Amino acid sequence: MSRFLRSLPDRVTVFEVGPRDGLQNESIQIPSEAKITFINELAEAGLTWIEATSFVHPKAIPQLADAGEVMAGIERKRGVRYPVLVPNERGMERALESGVDAICVFTAASEEFSQANVRATIDETFERFKPVVTMAKQHDAWVRGYVSMAFHCPYEGRIPPEKALDVSARLLDLGVDEVAISDTVGRATPRDMDAVLSLAVDQLPVGRLALHLHDTFDLALPNVMLGLEAGITVFDGAAGGLGGCPFAPGAPGNLATEKLVRLLHGLGIETGIDEERVAAAAERMRATARPV
Ligand code: COA
Ligand code: ZN
Repeated sequence: MSRFLRSLPDRVTVFEVGPRDGLQNESIQIPSEAKITFINELAEAGLTWIEATSFVHPKAIPQLADAGEVMAGIERKRGVRYPVLVPNERGMERALESGVDAICVFTAASEEFSQANVRATIDETFERFKPVVTMAKQHDAWVRGYVSMAFHCPYEGRIPPEKALDVSARLLDLGVDEVAISDTVGRATPRDMDAVLSLAVDQLPVGRLALHLHDTFDLALPNVMLGLEAGITVFDGAAGGLGGCPFAPGAPGNLATEKLVRLLHGLGIETGIDEERVAAAAERMRATARPV
């Protein structure tokens, strides 16, 4: 019986975001074929949730303008879900044409970031998602909602925990299956995490929460520890730590999946993932990249 690690789960789900969040932030061009191979290899490495691409405006994120080709090219492995990011009804139509059965909508806990990212207030992002979530439910698609900048924002600074909670609760009310509380800039300390999770554990269904952490300041793993102790069992990672943060040049991007998996296995938590195969898949994908 452990004295300090009291309530770790036996199993955790790792939600891979490398092909989407990772690649959208890299200033490199990847051929669609290499993205398809990357996604297929991640599935072979044991990942069961792979965010494959994004049906946002192709001009907003040119790196993922080939979303349709990628979805058409990947193998759909049994037992693996391939969610995609969708910003609005137009994106949802495109996703459905590609046979998508799981989507992610995204908003933020920071008004200024919401404006910069999607040219809409937080309230307006909810107006945009309502029909998207309705369409998803009509097609039996699973829905995740991201709350970006849930702790810190490059424009607004520290975000009040109540604000992150409020946006998360509104997403759940709208009918999303899972909310990903996101430290998009990687600045949250375990104290910031504690403030948000203390409210979340009391007010929200913990089984429907995920943590999406960037590793810019090496704070992701301490926050994973806290998340585990709070009862969270879904954590995001990007193979190879893809996704340099545009606000912190030269800094690492998303929490690397292989680093996350190494911690989880070291704690005796099962994931079903082979971290070496994950790292190798990212290496092979990077080898095909050209700077843009
Ligand atoms: N896919 C393709 N085209 C789209 C589209 C989508 N998802 N959404 C809108 N468009 C097209 C419209 O059809 C319209 O085309 P038209 O002028 O030929 O009629 C045009 O884009 C403008 O549409 P509008 O609804 O005014 O969108 P917008 O220009 O205000 O863009 C977003 C809003 C949300 C679609 C855009 O800002 C976006 O995609 N942002 C993504 C940001 C992102 O991915 N950030 C990283 C993730 S956190
Ligand atoms: Zn992210």
